[in-house]
Amino acid sequence: MSEEGVTDYLKENEEEQVINLSLRPKNIKEFLGQKNVISSLEISLEAAKKREEPLEHMLLSGPPGLGKTSLAYCVAQQMKSKLTATSGPAIERAGDLVGILTNLEAGDILFIDEIHRLSKVVEEFLYPAMENFQIDFIIDKGPYAKSVKFNIKPFTLIGATTRKGLLSGPLRGRFGLFYDFDFYSPEELSKIVQRSAGLLEIEIDSESAMEIARRSRGSPRLCNRLLRRVRDYAQVIGTGVIDISITQDSLAKIGVDNQGLDKMDRKYLLAIMNLYQGGPAGIEAIAATLREDKLTLEDVVEPYLLKEGFIIRSPRGRIATEISYQHLKLSLKGKIQEEIF
Ligand SMILES: Nc1ncnc2c1ncn2[C@@H]1O[C@H](COP(=O)(O)OP(=O)(O)OP(=O)(O)O)[C@@H](O)[C@H]1O
Ligand SMILES: [Mg+2]
Repeated sequence: MSEEGVTDYLKENEEEQVINLSLRPKNIKEFLGQKNVISSLEISLEAAKKREEPLEHMLLSGPPGLGKTSLAYCVAQQMKSKLTATSGPAIERAGDLVGILTNLEAGDILFIDEIHRLSKVVEEFLYPAMENFQIDFIIDKGPYAKSVKFNIKPFTLIGATTRKGLLSGPLRGRFGLFYDFDFYSPEELSKIVQRSAGLLEIEIDSESAMEIARRSRGSPRLCNRLLRRVRDYAQVIGTGVIDISITQDSLAKIGVDNQGLDKMDRKYLLAIMNLYQGGPAGIEAIAATLREDKLTLEDVVEPYLLKEGFIIRSPRGRIATEISYQHLKLSLKGKIQEEIF
């Protein structure tokens, strides 16, 4: 993990990918939390099974690391369907989709991660496939060019996105089921920590599990990551068993504070406070100051800070709230001591 800290979601290394695969819930019953999503999804699954029809196309949206990909696999398992996974940026040309779509069997699931990143051309190619299970080929060039329609088997598209707002109207309109993921509660995350600890054969008490959960910014990916960091620490300095003092020490060492904010979150807040007098500060300006990608800040850093009220968004930019000042122990008008740049 980079020293920027645990919010570095987008850079799951290979080892982490393998571990995360093993920690994925295998079926809907094992999928903890997201109660609203799960209860309405179960009804749709049941109905589709009764009608013996493929499930309607489904759009999963929400911040990274909350389990969209995991849920897509659970749906496939429940429907006893084969899932083919790809992602928006991986499909460069419409031609890339022809092979994928024509290979689908009836009832199969096509999972497209980061679906908001599909190119316009590819997106338009998908419309008839989603709507009538047809694709349009253009064969030949120039005056002889003609469009040929080709039938494909009825399938279910599951799209996942961290940016529902970036989806075009026509694409959004072709989905029938919409599920918005929300941050997990500490109680839900503590169950996930205990489940993961069981799978990884880590001994942890319930107080420590709750402490990790509280500091995981509402995200299962993060709670699994923190669990492993705390475990490493427990093995090096202790007996390998995780207790509350080891948990608190190790989280402090890796820079995760008692609200779950890490170095990147604090740098972000301090940038607004220090350099923009608490805001409003435009996201471009903040990104340039931190030398971070604007989209990363918007997708990864900001959602949790917004949800917990550390910042608010105004038309003129982001504003740090009293909660941020309190948390970072700074008075609203006082001079900011900590120099970070
Ligand atoms: N409901 C859950 N119960 C238990 N573990 C979960 C749950 N949701 C997610 N996880 C764990 O969190 C990890 C991240 O989940 P997943 O990859 O599905 O997130 P995602 O929403 O697809 O993220 P991204 O947007 O970054 O692709 C999984 O590997 C899994 O271990
Ligand atoms: Mg995913």
